[in-house]
Amino acid sequence: MNRTLMAAMAAVLAGSVVLAACATAPGGPAGPVTPVASLRGSDAATQDLAPTVREQVGRKPGLQDRIARTFVGQPPLIPHATDNFDEVTLADNQCLECHAVQNAVKKSAPRISDSHLVSATGQKLAEADSRRHACQLCHVPQFDAPPLVENAFVGATPKK
Ligand code: HEC
Ligand code: HEC
Repeated sequence: MNRTLMAAMAAVLAGSVVLAACATAPGGPAGPVTPVASLRGSDAATQDLAPTVREQVGRKPGLQDRIARTFVGQPPLIPHATDNFDEVTLADNQCLECHAVQNAVKKSAPRISDSHLVSATGQKLAEADSRRHACQLCHVPQFDAPPLVENAFVGATPKK
């Protein structure tokens, strides 16, 4: 047998071994059929449904009581609506038009706390530090929505 022929035969042999392995592999056509599901359990083939749009509970600032905090260091929840405000951008922050040090009194709004007036290196600042610029990273408006997952959280007793 010449060399080329031997090489060709070897290739065919190797190919049939691979084919045989495929046919008997678990999960292949002969194996049990496992439906593909997402981590949350829904069938991966079903279409994603848009989440229900919910209204914010709060109304315009000035009309509601502050929401009691439930643990020390909690960023207070936003009791008023925020959906009428402009989005916070690099240049704009409508929240500060009421909550900044120089505006809070005349807008009758709670002033940002001193912790917001400290730079990353610990210096005192006259205005909110840039790390606090995206207020809604920490402070969230309220929606009347069922909890996403069941939980047994009980807050600390609010201070009287
Ligand atoms: C027009 C003025 C105004 C604007 C703009 C505004 N707020 Fe307020 N905010 C208030 C007032 C007044 C309150 C006091 C509660 C009330 O009356 O609704 C308040 C309450 C809060 C509180 C609760 C503070 C506490 O101690 O419980 C947070 C947090 C807050 N606002 C965050 C924000 C954020 C974040 C934005 C921007 C998305 C924003 N606010 C925009 C006026 C404003
Ligand atoms: C990194 C998280 C974080 C960001 C960002 C942030 N805050 Fe806060 N904020 C807190 C925490 C935590 C508290 C409560 C503890 C404290 O006073 O430091 C608080 C307290 C407040 C209070 C209540 C002050 C008081 O004296 O009771 C107001 C009002 C407030 N923040 C407004 C804002 C506004 C407006 C912005 C955006 C310019 C903002 N915060 C950004 C975490 C944050």
